Amino acid sequence: MLLPVAALGYLLGSIPFGLVLTSTAGLGDIRAIGSGNIGATNVLRTGRKGLAAATLALDAFKGAVAVLAGGALAGEAGILVAGLAAVLGHLFPVWLKFKGGKGVATGAGVLLAAAPVAGLGAVLVWAGTAFATRISSAGALAACAAAPVIGLLAGDPWPVELLVLASSGLIIARHHANIRRLLAGTEPRIGQGK
Ligand code: G3P
Repeated sequence: MLLPVAALGYLLGSIPFGLVLTSTAGLGDIRAIGSGNIGATNVLRTGRKGLAAATLALDAFKGAVAVLAGGALAGEAGILVAGLAAVLGHLFPVWLKFKGGKGVATGAGVLLAAAPVAGLGAVLVWAGTAFATRISSAGALAACAAAPVIGLLAGDPWPVELLVLASSGLIIARHHANIRRLLAGTEPRIGQGK
């Protein structure tokens, strides 16, 4: 049962909503704009706030749906497998030659559904850091660092904590270019071009 659950999670995660929404709106290929990422932060660089909000919501929604479906089909193991598969699907979608997004919104949706306390804590850390720094990736990195600690403090069961740790680690690794820009002081503020 876990293999179909993994496939379902991956397929849901691999839907590139940012790319679909921006190309449907006639904005061209989002991968040729700003950071080249398909996520909401980069969609915002097109100046279309509504599209960015829709990308954020849909990317988070697909992560949450994957976890809920995985849980319904295969219990706790299904949550772990489907959640991780959804993040991997967003990061490495077969449709985009495995070059996908950075997984922040999808990871948030996964965590909110699988580990609500860690997920909510991560969202608050993201919002607080992004508000203070005006840098989206700084918020994402702080949230990824905080989520496993919050999960531990909340007493999440080990499969859930494993999911939080793995998702956070993958998302941090996917931000390698952002980390380089943050260290160099060249990371753009929210809404600014790259
Ligand atoms: O959600 C992705 C964000 O952390 C960074 O996006 O486009 O600035 O690389 P971007």
